[in-house]
Amino acid sequence: MKILCFGSLNLDRVYQVPHFIRPGETMAAEELNTFCGGKGLNQSIALARAGAEVYHAGAVGQADGGMLVDALEASGVDCTLVRRLPCPTGHAIIQVNTEGQNCILLFGGANQEITRAQIDETLARFSPGDMLVLQNEISQLDYLMEAAGKKGMVIAFNPSPMTPELLKMPLSRVSWFLLNEVEARDLCGEEVPEEEYPERILQKYPDSRVVLTLGSRGCVYQDSRERLAVAAKKVKAVDTTAAGDTFTGFFLAGIAAGEPVAQALEEATAAAAISVSRKGASPSIPTREEMLHTRF
Ligand code: RIB
Repeated sequence: MKILCFGSLNLDRVYQVPHFIRPGETMAAEELNTFCGGKGLNQSIALARAGAEVYHAGAVGQADGGMLVDALEASGVDCTLVRRLPCPTGHAIIQVNTEGQNCILLFGGANQEITRAQIDETLARFSPGDMLVLQNEISQLDYLMEAAGKKGMVIAFNPSPMTPELLKMPLSRVSWFLLNEVEARDLCGEEVPEEEYPERILQKYPDSRVVLTLGSRGCVYQDSRERLAVAAKKVKAVDTTAAGDTFTGFFLAGIAAGEPVAQALEEATAAAAISVSRKGASPSIPTREEMLHTRF
């Protein structure tokens, strides 16, 4: 099984702040760093560091996207399907507060220049049964989902960031939903207690499997036969950026390698815990070796 991650690549400008800026406030940041990010890039790097063979498709700006492609390649991701376009690379302005929480402002740039022609050319390189990993930060996502579904690819979808348009996408094509509680609530489309989110999503999309991440409360998995829960590891949060991406990459790498779901959940949980204990998006993602040898 080949794994294609078709997703965003962003330059993350990360500002360390005493608190998130309030309306009308002017505040000095304590530190500024630029990291490689984008949910697509982060998940490709997590998949690769977890040991999977990964192809990344997407787009960056010709002038400023080189460092993102270099970062993917340095982790062993195949970037022959990443386009370099005459427009700015996507970027994110990220505030990280003293508790390690973040808030993120996105500018799509090249990520919003994905065309149907690029999608057709990319998918032609893959076969039924190959896995397609998606997030919600690129253009033409509905077309991509439909085309990959028709082709018989296994779609794993992290519906992040959640938008109202997303609910109109061909989500019945999705085999794996990986989402947090906010995304799950919106996907349910009605107010239900949190414990019922996975079940409600399965009622709407009965052919899927649901992995719900709950931050410091761990994660829950549910399919039509079983429900599993895994507790989070206890770590001091420095920066939670890309914790969800790390989890997604490690979980899907485990599934693609034929691991039982319970093992893939445990490994994803450990990898995500390591990532929150360090700064930055992709630089915080551990390797499989490190994940296996870390004691919590
Ligand atoms: O999930 C974290 C990512 O979200 C950041 O790297 C940022 O680029 C945004 O896409």
